Amino acid sequence: MAEIRLENVGHSYDDGATFALKPITLTWEDGNAIALLGPSGCGKTTLLNIISGLLTPSTGRVFFDGVDITDLDTAKRNVAQVFQFPVLYDTMTVRENLSFPLKNRNVAKDVISARIDEIAELLGLTKYLDIRPQKLRSDLQQLVSLGRGLVRRDVPAILFDEPLTVIDQNFKWTLRGRLKEMHNSTRHTLVYVTHDQTEALTFADKVVVLNQGEIVQTGTASDLFLAPQDEFVGFFIGSPGMNFMDASVSNGDVSIGSTLIGSADGDRPIANGDIRVGIRPEFLSLSSQGTGTDVKINRIEHRGGYKLIHADGPNGNVVAKLANDASFVAGEKAHLIFHPERTYLFRDSKLCGSVSTKGVKQ
Ligand SMILES: Nc1ncnc2c1ncn2[C@@H]1O[C@H](COP(=O)(O)OP(=O)(O)OP(=O)(O)O)[C@@H](O)[C@H]1O
Ligand SMILES: [Mg+2]
Repeated sequence: MAEIRLENVGHSYDDGATFALKPITLTWEDGNAIALLGPSGCGKTTLLNIISGLLTPSTGRVFFDGVDITDLDTAKRNVAQVFQFPVLYDTMTVRENLSFPLKNRNVAKDVISARIDEIAELLGLTKYLDIRPQKLRSDLQQLVSLGRGLVRRDVPAILFDEPLTVIDQNFKWTLRGRLKEMHNSTRHTLVYVTHDQTEALTFADKVVVLNQGEIVQTGTASDLFLAPQDEFVGFFIGSPGMNFMDASVSNGDVSIGSTLIGSADGDRPIANGDIRVGIRPEFLSLSSQGTGTDVKINRIEHRGGYKLIHADGPNGNVVAKLANDASFVAGEKAHLIFHPERTYLFRDSKLCGSVSTKGVKQ
């Protein structure tokens, strides 16, 4: 297994006119499970292909365990890569497909056989071992592809590019759990691309959020949820994402319109001027008594264990996630109650502080 380090690595598909991946520098520790999360086109596959060697970066160097491998071709890098759709040999059985990466490296027959049994068991493929993959459903074919990626123990890293896209929703949960278990026991360095936040957050030790070719935040599931460093992370992570409201700061006071909501807290003093308040639906509440930032409730969405209250806020829709016994009705007026420790301030899309609501009458 290996530590992966990228130094100033970027990529342009059009000779530098635009960068699909803007130059980044990072280190992923040996043995970590890392998820690359972001919307379609943000550069996830580009980054993965640079690590596997399918793509030579336009700028920067790639290191495995401190050794510069930027100019080493894919085969010599020795990493296992699993793509979004099955890549298999149709003339071979499932067993032969799974064995191939080991046979190629002259692994002893009995070792291969034991390892194939283990991987087939993990992926639920035991009864298909002697069938050719073209006879199998596409999700089973993808599992064989996944098996080929997992079968070798001696790879520096395993790279997955949205490997579960074609897998049935229920089995996806089971499989994610098994992959996680497998990772806990083998501690391969594992890089897992997905645009599904649940998949990323449940699977990885560290999630790297990409947007438009840039890393906007790297953190654990709770870092990304509780303290998003960028408006994009606030919005993209969470279901639904963070609410944002236009606000202003004046001598440390934060107001939405003419209503004071609290005082600005930051590592550095926060300059007067326009700002955005960000708060997750989980930390926003509503009250029909008193005064504060007024909203009108326009829709109540029942989600089983909780309710989402959609309201017309100071500039657009705001959503609060409330318990089932909350008794608001559509059409009613209310005002917003901001959680004292979970109300954040963003300027130029970046987190710059939080709002202390203590002592402020809402
Ligand atoms: N071979 C290529 N030639 C030109 N442009 C490309 C090529 N491959 C990708 N791009 C562009 O680079 C950007 C990043 O693409 P990439 O495939 O890395 O995104 P992604 O995050 O993997 O997206 P998805 O979730 O849809 O797979 C996109 O704008 C894409 O159109
Ligand atoms: Mg992709």
